[in-house]
Amino acid sequence: MSLHRLRSITIGVPSRDAVCGFYRDFGLVETGPGRFETADGGEQLRIQSSPRRNLLALSVGVDDPDDLTRAEANLSRLGGAIVRSERGLRTRDPVTGVRVELVVEPRGGPKPSPQLATNGPGREVRIDARSPAVLAQERPRPHKLSHVVVGSTDAAASRRFFVEGVGFRVSDEVPAIGASFLRCSTDHHNLLVQPAPVGFLHHTAWEMDDVDAVGHAAAAMLAADPTRHVWGLGRHGIGSNYFWYLRDPAGNFAEYSSDLDVIADDEAWKAAASTSVHPLAAWGPPVPAAFLAPEDIVALARGEGAR
Ligand SMILES: [Fe+2]
Repeated sequence: MSLHRLRSITIGVPSRDAVCGFYRDFGLVETGPGRFETADGGEQLRIQSSPRRNLLALSVGVDDPDDLTRAEANLSRLGGAIVRSERGLRTRDPVTGVRVELVVEPRGGPKPSPQLATNGPGREVRIDARSPAVLAQERPRPHKLSHVVVGSTDAAASRRFFVEGVGFRVSDEVPAIGASFLRCSTDHHNLLVQPAPVGFLHHTAWEMDDVDAVGHAAAAMLAADPTRHVWGLGRHGIGSNYFWYLRDPAGNFAEYSSDLDVIADDEAWKAAASTSVHPLAAWGPPVPAAFLAPEDIVALARGEGAR
């Protein structure tokens, strides 16, 4: 696959200072006003002022200029504006308005993280020692941006733009709700497009070491402000990842995630439709209504900046 990484996203919010404070607490490092980096992925989040909350842009890493040429030809077939340079290409999803940038850059990736020794029945591997997960520690930091989920008023057209135009692969689909899990790397999904009455950002997700890191980080966020809680701890069906969702001051959900499925071979991967996987969660607390339909969705659809 010529696309190899979700490099970064830009989000727009009305309450920029408060939102920046949230992502500082979340574990991202602010390198400049509204610019945040992860532990291993570099600068992956930009926060700009905007009349209402939304995803403004996303950037994808590709291997070489031939990949840009291929995307340019495919996007041209679909119509729409394309700006091409030697090392990049810029375009825009005509439905959601999200700006999309492709950039030639070498492949990289997070450093392998240490794996905790965990005991199980008949499998005692940590003996005479407490789990490091219960000892005092620094708050875990997200290693990289994992995925972003957007609502689209024409999800089929947005899917066509990202798959047939930009070059995302389809990992899984949930036909009952018209949702498509798309990837631009070996991660199960880097982008999820789902139908909505208005184009909006549902959530961003950030990769943590493991489920303990998800728990520690989310618990610290809630200790500072319990109203941030949305949904978790649980394990998704599609994608298999552990999740815990929080709400930023603008109303965007931010997910701590770990153990997402990896797809290296399309032929070997079995789509969810052919398995017994639950479309939402294998286990976890009941899904809150506000997760499925965010409380400000009606206001957003009316064109109001809710927060
Ligand atoms: Fe997610």
